[in-house]
Amino acid sequence: MKRAFIYLAILALGISILAGCRAARTTGAKKVHIGIVQIVEHPSLNTIRESFIAGLAELGYKEGENIIIDYQNAQGDQSNLKSICQRFVSKKYDLIVAIATPSAQAAVGQTKEIPIVFAACTEPVGSGLVADLQKPGGNVTGTSDAISAAKIMELAERITPGFKTVGALYNASETNSLAVIKELKEYAQKRGWEVVEATVTNSSEVQQAAASLVGKADIIFSPTDNTVASAMPVVAQVAKKAKIPVYVGADSMVKDGGLATYGVNYEVLGKETAKIAAQILKGAKPGDIPVKVMSDLDIYVNLETARAIGVTIPEDILEQAKVFEK
Ligand code: TRP
Repeated sequence: MKRAFIYLAILALGISILAGCRAARTTGAKKVHIGIVQIVEHPSLNTIRESFIAGLAELGYKEGENIIIDYQNAQGDQSNLKSICQRFVSKKYDLIVAIATPSAQAAVGQTKEIPIVFAACTEPVGSGLVADLQKPGGNVTGTSDAISAAKIMELAERITPGFKTVGALYNASETNSLAVIKELKEYAQKRGWEVVEATVTNSSEVQQAAASLVGKADIIFSPTDNTVASAMPVVAQVAKKAKIPVYVGADSMVKDGGLATYGVNYEVLGKETAKIAAQILKGAKPGDIPVKVMSDLDIYVNLETARAIGVTIPEDILEQAKVFEK
Protein backbone atom coordinates (compact mmCIF):
# COMPACT_ATOMS: atom_id res chain seq x y z
CA MET A 1 0.00 0.00 0.00
CA LYS A 2 2.72 2.38 1.10
CA ARG A 3 4.85 1.36 -1.88
CA ALA A 4 1.96 1.99 -4.30
CA PHE A 5 1.61 5.49 -2.86
CA ILE A 6 5.30 6.21 -3.39
CA TYR A 7 5.09 5.05 -7.00
CA LEU A 8 2.09 7.29 -7.57
CA ALA A 9 3.87 10.24 -6.02
CA ILE A 10 6.91 9.70 -8.24
CA LEU A 11 4.67 9.40 -11.31
CA ALA A 12 2.85 12.63 -10.40
CA LEU A 13 6.16 14.43 -9.90
CA GLY A 14 7.38 13.20 -13.29
CA ILE A 15 4.22 14.41 -15.03
CA SER A 16 4.42 17.81 -13.41
CA ILE A 17 8.10 18.21 -14.39
CA LEU A 18 7.25 17.32 -17.99
CA ALA A 19 4.30 19.74 -18.01
CA GLY A 20 6.53 22.41 -16.54
CA CYS A 21 9.06 21.95 -19.32
CA ARG A 22 6.35 22.18 -21.96
CA ALA A 23 5.05 25.45 -20.40
CA ALA A 24 8.55 26.86 -20.29
CA ARG A 25 8.94 26.04 -23.94
CA THR A 26 5.89 28.06 -24.96
CA THR A 27 6.44 31.07 -22.73
CA GLY A 28 10.15 31.27 -23.43
CA ALA A 29 9.51 30.26 -27.06
CA LYS A 30 12.04 31.27 -29.64
CA LYS A 31 10.96 34.50 -31.29
CA VAL A 32 10.25 34.44 -35.01
CA HIS A 33 12.71 36.54 -37.05
CA ILE A 34 11.27 38.54 -39.93
CA GLY A 35 13.50 40.47 -42.32
CA ILE A 36 11.75 43.32 -44.13
CA VAL A 37 13.54 44.68 -47.20
CA GLN A 38 12.35 47.85 -48.93
CA ILE A 39 13.93 49.28 -52.11
CA VAL A 40 13.53 52.89 -51.01
CA GLU A 41 11.53 55.02 -48.57
CA HIS A 42 8.75 56.76 -50.44
CA PRO A 43 5.34 57.48 -48.87
CA SER A 44 3.47 54.53 -50.41
CA LEU A 45 6.04 51.91 -49.44
CA ASN A 46 6.22 53.34 -45.92
CA THR A 47 2.42 53.09 -45.63
CA ILE A 48 2.59 49.46 -46.75
CA ARG A 49 5.28 48.60 -44.21
CA GLU A 50 3.53 50.34 -41.31
CA SER A 51 0.21 48.78 -42.18
CA PHE A 52 1.83 45.34 -42.55
CA ILE A 53 3.42 45.56 -39.08
CA ALA A 54 0.12 46.79 -37.57
CA GLY A 55 -1.73 43.97 -39.35
CA LEU A 56 0.65 41.34 -37.98
CA ALA A 57 0.10 42.70 -34.45
CA GLU A 58 -3.69 42.43 -34.92
CA LEU A 59 -3.14 38.80 -35.87
CA GLY A 60 -1.15 38.13 -32.70
CA TYR A 61 2.40 38.64 -33.96
CA LYS A 62 3.75 41.51 -31.95
CA GLU A 63 7.16 43.05 -32.35
CA GLY A 64 9.35 42.43 -29.31
CA GLU A 65 6.87 39.88 -27.88
CA ASN A 66 6.87 36.91 -30.24
CA ILE A 67 8.52 38.33 -33.35
CA ILE A 68 11.69 40.28 -34.08
CA ILE A 69 11.61 42.55 -37.11
CA ASP A 70 14.80 43.53 -38.90
CA TYR A 71 13.82 46.35 -41.28
CA GLN A 72 16.30 47.43 -43.95
CA ASN A 73 15.96 50.23 -46.53
CA ALA A 74 18.14 49.80 -49.64
CA GLN A 75 18.01 53.54 -50.47
CA GLY A 76 17.23 52.87 -54.11
CA ASP A 77 20.42 50.87 -54.64
CA GLN A 78 20.43 47.43 -56.27
CA SER A 79 23.69 46.31 -54.67
CA ASN A 80 22.32 47.24 -51.23
CA LEU A 81 19.27 45.10 -51.99
CA LYS A 82 21.46 42.14 -52.74
CA SER A 83 23.60 42.42 -49.63
CA ILE A 84 20.56 42.96 -47.38
CA CYS A 85 18.93 39.79 -48.72
CA GLN A 86 22.18 37.83 -48.45
CA ARG A 87 22.43 38.86 -44.81
CA PHE A 88 18.82 37.82 -44.10
CA VAL A 89 19.57 34.42 -45.61
CA SER A 90 22.86 33.92 -43.76
CA LYS A 91 21.08 34.77 -40.50
CA LYS A 92 18.50 32.08 -41.36
CA TYR A 93 15.52 34.32 -40.73
CA ASP A 94 12.13 32.59 -40.63
CA LEU A 95 10.49 34.89 -43.17
CA ILE A 96 11.51 37.59 -45.64
CA VAL A 97 9.03 40.34 -46.52
CA ALA A 98 10.01 42.20 -49.68
CA ILE A 99 8.30 45.51 -50.34
CA ALA A 100 8.06 46.45 -54.05
CA THR A 101 9.28 44.53 -57.10
CA PRO A 102 13.05 45.29 -57.03
CA SER A 103 13.22 44.06 -53.41
CA ALA A 104 11.25 40.93 -54.24
CA GLN A 105 13.49 40.14 -57.21
CA ALA A 106 16.58 40.48 -55.01
CA ALA A 107 15.08 38.21 -52.31
CA VAL A 108 14.01 35.56 -54.83
CA GLY A 109 17.57 35.58 -56.19
CA GLN A 110 19.00 34.69 -52.78
CA THR A 111 16.93 31.81 -51.42
CA LYS A 112 14.76 28.94 -52.52
CA GLU A 113 14.10 27.83 -48.93
CA ILE A 114 13.20 30.73 -46.67
CA PRO A 115 9.59 31.82 -47.27
CA ILE A 116 9.32 35.14 -49.12
CA VAL A 117 6.19 37.28 -48.97
CA PHE A 118 6.28 40.17 -51.44
CA ALA A 119 4.17 43.29 -51.10
CA ALA A 120 2.74 45.51 -53.85
CA CYS A 121 4.38 43.94 -56.88
CA THR A 122 2.56 45.22 -59.96
CA GLU A 123 3.40 42.33 -62.27
CA PRO A 124 4.53 39.27 -60.25
CA VAL A 125 4.57 36.90 -63.23
CA GLY A 126 6.24 39.25 -65.73
CA SER A 127 8.77 40.22 -63.06
CA GLY A 128 9.80 36.59 -62.61
CA LEU A 129 8.59 36.26 -59.01
CA VAL A 130 6.03 33.49 -59.51
CA ALA A 131 5.01 31.38 -62.49
CA ASP A 132 1.31 31.37 -61.68
CA LEU A 133 -0.71 33.79 -59.51
CA GLN A 134 -3.15 31.09 -58.38
CA LYS A 135 -0.53 28.47 -57.63
CA PRO A 136 2.82 30.17 -57.05
CA GLY A 137 4.71 26.99 -56.00
CA GLY A 138 8.11 27.18 -54.29
CA ASN A 139 8.86 29.58 -51.44
CA VAL A 140 7.28 32.77 -52.81
CA THR A 141 3.86 34.46 -52.69
CA GLY A 142 2.47 37.89 -51.81
CA THR A 143 0.26 40.81 -52.85
CA SER A 144 -0.06 42.71 -56.12
CA ASP A 145 -1.12 46.28 -56.79
CA ALA A 146 -1.84 45.66 -60.48
CA ILE A 147 -3.16 48.82 -62.12
CA SER A 148 -4.58 49.50 -65.55
CA ALA A 149 -2.98 52.12 -67.79
CA ALA A 150 -6.11 52.01 -69.95
CA LYS A 151 -8.38 52.80 -66.99
CA ILE A 152 -6.14 55.69 -65.95
CA MET A 153 -6.15 57.02 -69.54
CA GLU A 154 -9.97 56.80 -69.60
CA LEU A 155 -9.95 58.92 -66.45
CA ALA A 156 -7.53 61.34 -68.15
CA GLU A 157 -9.94 61.66 -71.06
CA ARG A 158 -12.78 62.52 -68.72
CA ILE A 159 -10.75 65.15 -66.83
CA THR A 160 -8.58 66.68 -69.58
CA PRO A 161 -9.98 65.53 -72.96
CA GLY A 162 -8.37 66.33 -76.28
CA PHE A 163 -4.75 65.34 -75.62
CA LYS A 164 -2.72 63.80 -78.44
CA THR A 165 0.68 63.09 -76.90
CA VAL A 166 1.38 61.24 -73.65
CA GLY A 167 4.74 61.63 -71.94
CA ALA A 168 5.73 58.37 -70.24
CA LEU A 169 8.00 58.98 -67.26
CA TYR A 170 9.54 55.88 -65.65
CA ASN A 171 12.61 53.83 -64.83
CA ALA A 172 13.07 51.25 -67.60
CA SER A 173 14.82 48.82 -65.24
CA GLU A 174 11.72 48.56 -63.02
CA THR A 175 9.83 45.60 -64.47
CA ASN A 176 6.74 46.71 -62.53
CA SER A 177 6.69 49.87 -64.68
CA LEU A 178 7.47 48.12 -67.97
CA ALA A 179 4.27 46.06 -67.86
CA VAL A 180 2.10 49.14 -67.38
CA ILE A 181 3.95 51.18 -70.01
CA LYS A 182 3.45 48.35 -72.48
CA GLU A 183 -0.28 48.52 -71.83
CA LEU A 184 -0.17 52.31 -72.17
CA LYS A 185 1.46 52.04 -75.59
CA GLU A 186 -1.09 49.50 -76.80
CA TYR A 187 -3.97 51.66 -75.62
CA ALA A 188 -2.42 54.82 -77.09
CA GLN A 189 -2.02 53.13 -80.45
CA LYS A 190 -5.71 52.23 -80.50
CA ARG A 191 -6.64 55.80 -79.66
CA GLY A 192 -4.17 57.32 -82.14
CA TRP A 193 -2.06 59.07 -79.49
CA GLU A 194 1.68 59.42 -79.60
CA VAL A 195 3.74 58.24 -76.60
CA VAL A 196 6.91 60.23 -75.87
CA GLU A 197 9.25 58.49 -73.45
CA ALA A 198 11.41 59.98 -70.73
CA THR A 199 13.23 57.26 -68.83
CA VAL A 200 15.44 57.57 -65.77
CA THR A 201 17.86 55.28 -63.97
CA ASN A 202 17.75 56.93 -60.55
CA SER A 203 15.75 59.58 -58.70
CA SER A 204 18.27 62.36 -59.28
CA GLU A 205 17.45 62.20 -63.01
CA VAL A 206 13.71 62.62 -62.56
CA GLN A 207 13.58 66.42 -62.65
CA GLN A 208 15.45 66.64 -65.94
CA ALA A 209 13.41 63.83 -67.47
CA ALA A 210 10.15 65.55 -66.50
CA ALA A 211 11.44 68.85 -67.89
CA SER A 212 12.34 67.12 -71.18
CA LEU A 213 8.64 66.41 -71.70
CA VAL A 214 7.62 70.06 -71.47
CA GLY A 215 6.61 71.24 -74.92
CA LYS A 216 6.50 67.65 -76.21
CA ALA A 217 3.68 66.07 -74.22
CA ASP A 218 0.10 67.22 -73.57
CA ILE A 219 -0.13 65.05 -70.46
CA ILE A 220 2.40 63.04 -68.44
CA PHE A 221 1.84 59.50 -67.22
CA SER A 222 3.93 57.77 -64.59
CA PRO A 223 3.01 54.26 -63.37
CA THR A 224 3.76 52.86 -59.88
CA ASP A 225 7.42 53.50 -60.48
CA ASN A 226 9.53 53.54 -57.31
CA THR A 227 12.15 55.87 -58.77
CA VAL A 228 9.63 58.48 -59.92
CA ALA A 229 7.57 58.15 -56.72
CA SER A 230 10.70 58.98 -54.71
CA ALA A 231 10.98 62.30 -56.55
CA MET A 232 7.30 63.00 -57.16
CA PRO A 233 7.26 66.51 -55.60
CA VAL A 234 9.87 67.54 -58.18
CA VAL A 235 7.75 66.19 -61.06
CA ALA A 236 4.75 68.09 -59.69
CA GLN A 237 6.76 71.30 -59.59
CA VAL A 238 7.89 71.03 -63.21
CA ALA A 239 4.39 70.10 -64.39
CA LYS A 240 2.63 72.86 -62.48
CA LYS A 241 4.92 75.46 -63.93
CA ALA A 242 4.26 74.16 -67.45
CA LYS A 243 0.55 73.53 -66.64
CA ILE A 244 0.74 69.87 -67.72
CA PRO A 245 -1.63 67.37 -66.10
CA VAL A 246 0.24 64.43 -64.53
CA TYR A 247 -1.60 61.12 -64.23
CA VAL A 248 0.04 58.58 -61.98
CA GLY A 249 -0.23 55.02 -60.67
CA ALA A 250 -0.71 55.58 -56.94
CA ASP A 251 -2.61 57.72 -54.41
CA SER A 252 0.65 58.85 -52.75
CA MET A 253 1.82 60.31 -56.07
CA VAL A 254 -1.44 62.27 -56.30
CA LYS A 255 -0.95 63.46 -52.74
CA ASP A 256 2.58 64.56 -53.73
CA GLY A 257 1.20 66.80 -56.48
CA GLY A 258 0.06 64.52 -59.33
CA LEU A 259 -3.38 65.32 -60.76
CA ALA A 260 -5.22 61.99 -60.57
CA THR A 261 -5.11 58.21 -60.54
CA TYR A 262 -7.25 55.13 -60.43
CA GLY A 263 -5.35 53.06 -57.91
CA VAL A 264 -5.35 50.65 -54.98
CA ASN A 265 -5.56 51.27 -51.25
CA TYR A 266 -2.10 50.52 -49.84
CA GLU A 267 -3.21 50.37 -46.22
CA VAL A 268 -5.50 47.51 -47.12
CA LEU A 269 -2.70 45.96 -49.18
CA GLY A 270 -0.39 46.05 -46.14
CA LYS A 271 -3.04 44.22 -44.08
CA GLU A 272 -3.54 41.60 -46.80
CA THR A 273 0.21 41.04 -46.88
CA ALA A 274 0.15 40.51 -43.10
CA LYS A 275 -2.62 37.89 -43.44
CA ILE A 276 -0.47 35.91 -45.87
CA ALA A 277 2.59 36.20 -43.60
CA ALA A 278 0.54 34.97 -40.62
CA GLN A 279 -0.66 31.93 -42.57
CA ILE A 280 2.95 31.05 -43.33
CA LEU A 281 4.06 31.57 -39.73
CA LYS A 282 1.33 29.10 -38.75
CA GLY A 283 2.83 26.51 -41.11
CA ALA A 284 1.22 27.04 -44.53
CA LYS A 285 3.48 26.68 -47.56
CA PRO A 286 4.00 29.93 -49.52
CA GLY A 287 3.65 28.04 -52.79
CA ASP A 288 0.11 26.96 -51.86
CA ILE A 289 -1.14 30.49 -51.15
CA PRO A 290 -2.45 32.37 -54.22
CA VAL A 291 -1.08 35.86 -54.85
CA LYS A 292 -3.61 38.39 -53.59
CA VAL A 293 -4.32 40.90 -56.35
CA MET A 294 -6.04 44.01 -54.99
CA SER A 295 -9.32 44.45 -56.80
CA ASP A 296 -10.90 47.49 -55.13
CA LEU A 297 -9.56 50.51 -56.95
CA ASP A 298 -10.50 54.14 -56.31
CA ILE A 299 -10.18 57.44 -58.11
CA TYR A 300 -7.91 59.94 -56.36
CA VAL A 301 -7.61 63.60 -57.36
CA ASN A 302 -5.55 66.54 -56.12
CA LEU A 303 -7.64 69.72 -56.15
CA GLU A 304 -4.75 72.01 -55.39
CA THR A 305 -2.92 70.71 -58.45
CA ALA A 306 -6.10 71.03 -60.54
CA ARG A 307 -6.44 74.69 -59.51
CA ALA A 308 -2.77 75.40 -60.13
CA ILE A 309 -2.92 74.13 -63.72
CA GLY A 310 -6.39 75.53 -64.43
CA VAL A 311 -8.24 72.20 -64.69
CA THR A 312 -11.80 71.71 -63.45
CA ILE A 313 -12.52 68.20 -62.20
CA PRO A 314 -16.00 67.16 -63.45
CA GLU A 315 -18.65 66.86 -60.71
CA ASP A 316 -19.41 63.21 -61.40
CA ILE A 317 -15.75 62.34 -60.83
CA LEU A 318 -15.55 64.43 -57.66
CA GLU A 319 -18.55 62.55 -56.29
CA GLN A 320 -16.74 59.21 -56.54
CA ALA A 321 -13.19 60.35 -55.91
CA LYS A 322 -11.03 60.51 -52.83
CA VAL A 323 -9.85 64.09 -52.79
CA PHE A 324 -6.59 65.62 -51.61
CA GLU A 325 -7.15 69.31 -50.95
CA LYS A 326 -3.54 70.11 -50.37
N1 TRP B 1 4.06 48.52 -57.41
C1 TRP B 1 5.41 48.90 -57.13
C2 TRP B 1 6.32 47.74 -57.50
O1 TRP B 1 5.89 46.74 -57.97
C3 TRP B 1 5.58 49.28 -55.68
C4 TRP B 1 4.73 50.43 -55.25
C5 TRP B 1 3.73 50.36 -54.33
C6 TRP B 1 4.79 51.77 -55.69
N2 TRP B 1 3.15 51.59 -54.16
C7 TRP B 1 3.77 52.46 -54.99
C8 TRP B 1 5.58 52.45 -56.61
C9 TRP B 1 3.56 53.82 -55.19
C10 TRP B 1 5.35 53.80 -56.80
C11 TRP B 1 4.35 54.49 -56.10
O2 TRP B 1 7.49 47.82 -57.35
